[in-house]
Amino acid sequence: MSKEIKNVEYGLEKIFEGAQDFLPLLGTDYVEFYVGNAKQAAHYYKTAFGYQSYAYKGLETGCKDYASYVISQDKIRIVLTTPLNSKSPINEHIVKHGDGVKVIALWVEDARKSWEETTKRGAKSFMEPTVEKDENGEVVRAGIYTYGETVHMFVERKNYKGTFLPGYKEWKSDYNPAPVGLKFIDHMVGNVGWNQMNETVKWYEDVMGFVNFLSFDDKQITTEYSALMSKVMSNGNGRIKFPINEPAEGKKKSQIEEYIDFYEGAGVQHLALATDDIIKTVTELRARGVEFLPPPPQAYYDDIPNRLGSHMSIMHEDISKLQELSILVDADEDGYLLQIFTKPVEDRPTLFYEIIQRMGAKGFGAGNFKALFESIEREQAKRGTL
Ligand code: FE2
Repeated sequence: MSKEIKNVEYGLEKIFEGAQDFLPLLGTDYVEFYVGNAKQAAHYYKTAFGYQSYAYKGLETGCKDYASYVISQDKIRIVLTTPLNSKSPINEHIVKHGDGVKVIALWVEDARKSWEETTKRGAKSFMEPTVEKDENGEVVRAGIYTYGETVHMFVERKNYKGTFLPGYKEWKSDYNPAPVGLKFIDHMVGNVGWNQMNETVKWYEDVMGFVNFLSFDDKQITTEYSALMSKVMSNGNGRIKFPINEPAEGKKKSQIEEYIDFYEGAGVQHLALATDDIIKTVTELRARGVEFLPPPPQAYYDDIPNRLGSHMSIMHEDISKLQELSILVDADEDGYLLQIFTKPVEDRPTLFYEIIQRMGAKGFGAGNFKALFESIEREQAKRGTL
């Protein structure tokens, strides 16, 4: 790990001391995917990732244009939406990008004010403040575009007691696979095209009031073949973290460029889901057919005591067990973290998942980047896209 990364001031509270946060965010509300077949996608996520049936909207609830299945696990809520006819604008998104994230919804006290503050600062509107009501109260939502065709939706639900949103009904199913211990979304990463990272970073600073609290250049994130650059953006209370990646020149094609080619533009690269027992969670995910990136070489695991230094004394996981499951380990001055990455979960090599367990560490596994990217490159080579 470089000196620069070690010296980073992680105390976001300090950065914001005295400053007014014009966009207070309470947390992630939901993430909505546009997919080709929401019914089947919901079945996959329930079976493979242990999500629970939560809410539904479609023909049976009077929605004639699209169907949405909401699945949940602890604090994570995923909405899977599919159009019901060829005229829906959702089709264009799916034709262009394949299955992918359309909406990163943020839970706020005041959706109207959030929309006004951000559009005033230059955000392009996706949806003007809209009040939706049913017998359980009302929800106010408003949306703005971020990178590519991705949207941030502000959700104000303090006056709502129903299931999810007005228009949805509770989804009860006879098929309820057990959860796998996923707790909340730790961070969500966006991939943007050549020379777009700084522009996107500036957008998050100016429009959303975020701060750039961690940066990695192409010298830190490089292998023999390819490279990328990354900057981590965070909101004022540190609950929302969006790393932004851009490809960098290397001998061969950057994994970020591969994503941009297949997603046909900027978009969400991965969702990192937190667990407090990664060994149990990953064992369960593997048994249910989730595919992970192949493990780094033996030398990586031999070097763990070196990499962890004094944190070895608080580490209670068995290294051979981590190796058996291909789980990666990294440390910073505050502690260590355990992480693993799935292969892309659709046929286009685009969106994938990270499973992460933080044991004090606040970073993103910079010490693992090289091992991780070499693993991704072996997969790219198989796809003929390296
Ligand atoms: Fe990540």
